[in-house]
Amino acid sequence: MFENSPNIANILPMQHHEVRKKFLDFFHKRGHAIIPSASLIPENDPSVLFTTAGMQPLVPYLLGQAHPEGVRLANLQKCVRTVDIDGIGDNTHATFFEMMGNWSLGDYFKEDAIKWSFELLTSKEEGFGLDPQRLYVTCFEGDENAPRDEESAGTWREIFKKHNVTGERIYFMPASKNWWSPGDNGPCGPDTEMFYDLTGTLIKGLSKQEYMKADEEQKVVEIWNDVFMEYEKKDGKVIGKLKNKNVDTGSGFERVCAVLQGKDNIFETDIFSELMKVSKSLGSNTKSQRIIADHMRTAVFMIGDGVIPSNTDRGYILRRLIRRAVFNTDLRSLSKIKITECIDALICTYEEVYTNLKLKRDTLI
Ligand code: SER
Repeated sequence: MFENSPNIANILPMQHHEVRKKFLDFFHKRGHAIIPSASLIPENDPSVLFTTAGMQPLVPYLLGQAHPEGVRLANLQKCVRTVDIDGIGDNTHATFFEMMGNWSLGDYFKEDAIKWSFELLTSKEEGFGLDPQRLYVTCFEGDENAPRDEESAGTWREIFKKHNVTGERIYFMPASKNWWSPGDNGPCGPDTEMFYDLTGTLIKGLSKQEYMKADEEQKVVEIWNDVFMEYEKKDGKVIGKLKNKNVDTGSGFERVCAVLQGKDNIFETDIFSELMKVSKSLGSNTKSQRIIADHMRTAVFMIGDGVIPSNTDRGYILRRLIRRAVFNTDLRSLSKIKITECIDALICTYEEVYTNLKLKRDTLI
């Protein structure tokens, strides 16, 4: 769609291994312990079937327990979200994804979190080298639970001024957009979200209405979310403040790779290149090919973490994904060889990061 847009980062496209490394190195250099991704199967949370956000395995620490690695953490966390399963096949949704995240457990707060988000996104030396003129941000407008987030907006104003980024690009939004919680219970708070202009044509800024239209048309896409977790929810209601002021950031790895590789969809990034070669020989149209690739990838990661197909809970979701992948193939082209090719494509893409997939190859095929 945006093939003629200027080079998205004004630099050479960054490959996925490099994006991963840049993110981790950036936060390691700023005092964060790099922790491994937890399993897709939540260890201490019976309320969810899968890990759905980077912060989920960290809930006890966001609630005040001391983390053995300290108060600054960062990682890429494997996540599964199946709520949008019917939307798979569009440009940006995936049932499995990795979330890049950095956390402050009662240490730094809004100003540092926002400054580092901006620096990582735009620094040509240490970060992704994105164009600051193509950034748009939202902040929480305030309600009965928490005040309007002038502090975050003030930090953004200062940053934009320092970098000569002009025009309207900070928008206040209600809790439906800019308040994040993992569910009805647990840590939560207002957030500030960062969006990137994929078209390279909106650099003069946008009115709020124009920004909302650009978001709807996927001309701007969300690339990062900084949540300021200082509140707690119980049974769906905010009940007060937590012991600590925490930061929970989340950035969709696949989406950021798409932006950095000048693609308007995640399936054309190098993360999917091997897998899409196989799925293109299995599905008859783009949507089917993307569904096959997405569901196969999720199924492989689920099995890698010990899920087995069954009629209940996690096993049922896995079975459903496999069935949907199969239904989207042109059945004549489906064979054991093709399924093995999908699995090998995934093992090859992830072998440096998720070694368990290679070790489980026999189970997977
Ligand atoms: N928890 C927030 C999210 O999932 C930020 O990490 O977007």
